[in-house]
Formats: sequence, C-alpha cells, structure tokens
Amino acid sequence: MPNLSPQSSVLSPRLRIGVLLSGRGSNFAAIDDAIRRGVLDAEIVCVISNRPDAPGIELARARKHHAHAIDNRDFASRAAHEAEVLRILDSARPDYIVLAGYMRVLSAEFIARYPNRILNIHPSLLPAFPGVDAQAQAVAYGVKISGCTVHFVTEKVDDGPIIVQRPVEVRDDDTGETLAARILVEEHGGYGEALTKLAGGS
Ligand code: GRF
Repeated sequence: MPNLSPQSSVLSPRLRIGVLLSGRGSNFAAIDDAIRRGVLDAEIVCVISNRPDAPGIELARARKHHAHAIDNRDFASRAAHEAEVLRILDSARPDYIVLAGYMRVLSAEFIARYPNRILNIHPSLLPAFPGVDAQAQAVAYGVKISGCTVHFVTEKVDDGPIIVQRPVEVRDDDTGETLAARILVEEHGGYGEALTKLAGGS
C-alpha cells in the first residue's frame, strides 16, 4: 500500500527555499551543499541580495541558481525595494524564505506576506545577545556557553519562535573572531537541521 501520510513524497514535494543575503553567503552555501549531498530534501528557488557586490550572490550565480541583485540604493523607499524583492519571491513560490546574513530589517508588511515562513539565523543563544556583534558581546559579557539560533522572523528583530539552537563553548582566550569562527560551523549545520525539521524530517 502506498504511503499517503502528510510526509509522503507523493503528496509533499521538495521544500522550496528562497534565500536573502547581503554578504559572504556561507550559510547559503551550507544549505546548498546539504541539498546537493542529499541530506536535505529541498531546492533553492531563488537567491536575492540587496548588495550587488556581495560574494554570496556571485556564489549563487556560479552555482547556477536564479540569482538577483536588487540594490536597495536604487529604490526611493524601503517599501519600493521590498515590493521588488517580494515580486521576485512571489514568482519563485518559496515555501520558506531563509535570511542568510541579510542585513535589512524586514517591514511588518513584508513579514505578514509570509507568516511563520521566514527564518533567520543569529550567532548567539537567543534571547541572549541580540543585535550586531553577538559573538563579541558574548565574549565581553564572559558567558561560558554561546552558540547560534535559527528562529522564525517576527516584527521584533532577533526574536520569534525558536526552531533550532546549537551551543558552543566560549574559551577563556576567545576573541569575537575566534568564537565567531566556531559558531559559524554550528550555524552551517543548524540551518540544515531546522530546514529538515520543517521538511518533515527528524
Ligand atoms: C552569520 O554569522 C549569521 O549568523 C548572521 O550573519 C552572518 C552571515 O554569514 N546573521 P554568511 O554570509 O552566511 O557567511
């Protein structure tokens, strides 16, 4: 008898993922690698950068993704830029939108278009150390454990329901940079883990 559960591959096509980034793009690459290795049953349907010179968008082009540079400086307002980003996203029909180092705060209107379908990754164990330089904040505070958090995006920055967290030990001789490098390794695994959960896997 065929498997007709909600997780059945017959009824549930691969997870469609749209990626927004602004920089290096290592989280995007890690998700793409997980898909290529067959670890994550998903497909990246578009990659959008608000920075035309972002290494991440070059990487997306090199990997033959639908890559779009939509420079926010070319638009008169945040709303106009978001409207163009949404136009591209809507036509790509993502199940989930993944923020992978996207350095723009999304408006409430944008988030409302994809409720509980926008994910972010933050390099701390939220709710500790929201905002910029989370790794340096953790070192300065003297916490012994930090890590990363994948969460749904809500109107409050670096907030929202948590999907996955991974801890990273903070060493006595850590700087923001050395801690960031170890957290980044966990980010790369953590994003794949969160998307696997959403795809109905374990
Ligand atoms: C990561 O540290 C992520 O946690 C933060 O921005 C950084 C993006 O890195 N939101 P990359 O562009 O994915 O390499």
